[in-house]
Amino acid sequence: MNDINQRINEKYHKLGENPETYKEGLLLSKPTTYWDYIQVDTLLSLQNPRTDFADEKIFVIYHQVTELMQELVLHELRQITGKVEVSEQQLAEKVKRMNRYTRMLITSFDVMRDGMDYDDYNTFRKALAPASGFQSASFRYIELRCTSLQNLVNEPGKMRLPETPDLDSYFENLYWKDAGLNRQTGEQTLTLKLFCEKYEAQMKSLAREMTSHTLEDKIKQLGDGLQHETRELLREFDKLYNIEWPLVHLRTAAHYLDAKGETKAATGGSKWKKYLHPMYQQRKFFPSLWSNEEIENWGKEFQL
Ligand code: HEM
Repeated sequence: MNDINQRINEKYHKLGENPETYKEGLLLSKPTTYWDYIQVDTLLSLQNPRTDFADEKIFVIYHQVTELMQELVLHELRQITGKVEVSEQQLAEKVKRMNRYTRMLITSFDVMRDGMDYDDYNTFRKALAPASGFQSASFRYIELRCTSLQNLVNEPGKMRLPETPDLDSYFENLYWKDAGLNRQTGEQTLTLKLFCEKYEAQMKSLAREMTSHTLEDKIKQLGDGLQHETRELLREFDKLYNIEWPLVHLRTAAHYLDAKGETKAATGGSKWKKYLHPMYQQRKFFPSLWSNEEIENWGKEFQL
């Protein structure tokens, strides 16, 4: 007891403050509660469906859950990318966590696939255009922290790149621009235009900060010494994020948009059947960890 008292005195003396004031403050302060700490009321005030369909709330909350899980992935990534020194052990520990969060998103996706009324979803979705999950900035921030811009340009995009591409030409040719940019006319869908207006400057600034400091770069710096277990964890993340999640997502899109003999347009206006398929996207964060055969079969287990 006395020891604590002494340590408190020392702490505030060091800060040039009177410890007694702080001790009195402690006497006055209210106990911490779950609802204040977790900000429950604020959290539950953030759902604003656009229609009266009960299932729209499920749609909103599940997207919010995804954003929170993606923030957890980013939280780990911020600690192992950028200008920080990381040991292989730290890196492996963080990637293990990233895999856990991503698996949770994959196994829970049936909340979308099976957990909403088919007709109600196909009605309330009409009130949501031109919004699309495509506009999730955290999804793009994860990509930019994981891998170099070069790996976010697909094969046709690589043919369009100038000999020594700068940041702007990479951005012009990122694979996800295919969802909304007509390269012949330069026209963009409203979904893409609004997304870029809001986030492109921030994305470019992150890409600049990540030059030579992405997770892929950290792996390269570890070189041949990379242990088998770490390698497998990284491959697992690549597979979860770039094959398995895209496939549960695509299967869900197909369930709602490509059934009963008709193919519906996406709220974001992409040619979604092709665009969303990992086989066409060919998005890989750590290409050097995959064999040519594995790359050839990327996402091929599902055909639409
Ligand atoms: C019924 C559920 C869903 C359907 C039918 C659906 C459909 C689609 C479609 C068609 C696209 C292509 C872009 C467009 O033209 O709009 C897309 C993109 C996307 N959606 Fe969803 N989606 C659903 C749920 C979700 C959820 C819960 C998330 C989580 C945030 C999400 C995140 C994304 C992302 C990140 C993209 C871009 C993917 C990429 O660029 O590889 N979607 N979605």
